[in-house]
Amino acid sequence: MKGNVLVVDDEQVVLKSCERILGPEGYGVSTVTSAKEALGLLEQNRYDLIITDLMMPEMNGLDFMKQVRAKDPDINIVVITGYPSQESIRESLSLRIIDYLPKPFSPALLLEATGKAVELKKKGVTPEARVEDYTEETAEKLDEIIRRYRGKPGALIPVLQEAQDLVGYLPPVVQRHVARGLKVPVSEVHGVVSFYSFFTMKPKGKHNIRVCLGTACYVKGAEEIVKKLSDGLQIEVGGITTDRNFSLETVRCLGACGLAPVVVVDKDTYGSINPIKVLDLLKDYE
Ligand code: FES
Repeated sequence: MKGNVLVVDDEQVVLKSCERILGPEGYGVSTVTSAKEALGLLEQNRYDLIITDLMMPEMNGLDFMKQVRAKDPDINIVVITGYPSQESIRESLSLRIIDYLPKPFSPALLLEATGKAVELKKKGVTPEARVEDYTEETAEKLDEIIRRYRGKPGALIPVLQEAQDLVGYLPPVVQRHVARGLKVPVSEVHGVVSFYSFFTMKPKGKHNIRVCLGTACYVKGAEEIVKKLSDGLQIEVGGITTDRNFSLETVRCLGACGLAPVVVVDKDTYGSINPIKVLDLLKDYE
């Protein structure tokens, strides 16, 4: 089985759709029509993902998520809602949801969100947008960007570039905002973000470190540089330090092979790096 999913929604039609879409794809799907029943099931079973509605009688989705978070800080949650207001999305984000799906959602969208959430749960990672990255002010600025390009051919890429400049990266919640604003399928937005290497779905630190792993740098010890940085900063490649000061990534040839091995911090290029001393480079950025 790919993963255990609990779906909470007071509409039977939504529960049946989730069962029909996720069941044949190898997910174990439990469904309940109220948050109270869901809390009961969570006492007895472990789930890889909770998919929950926001508007439900008795206990709404936000109160439900607060109770879930109090018991299990690491469980992955995806919200489905018919009426996403900035306020409800913002509050959901503060509860560290992975993503939200506007109703009605397509099977492809549900499968994509579920697959991503379950896979990340298995890796022990939660890629939610940080609440400070998607504030009401950010959402308004995103709307302004979208308005400037709406209706123009080829609008998607420049909108995503400006959105990335604004937020720093393109988490799912920003991709959905852009898709809604430009009236294009979320799958198209996601496809573009995944295809172009200059788009990133991961947050970057205040200072981004890039280590070249191209051939010239590799043979001169670039792998050792990556290891030293990763150990010193206590992050994996693609990760960000807890104070958000540094992020670490690897790239293929920075076009400065004569200086190999090469490390770039923000826009500063450093050549002939000695792996033993590489952490000293970062002192100027602390
Ligand atoms: S291989 Fe590293 S700069 Fe070219």
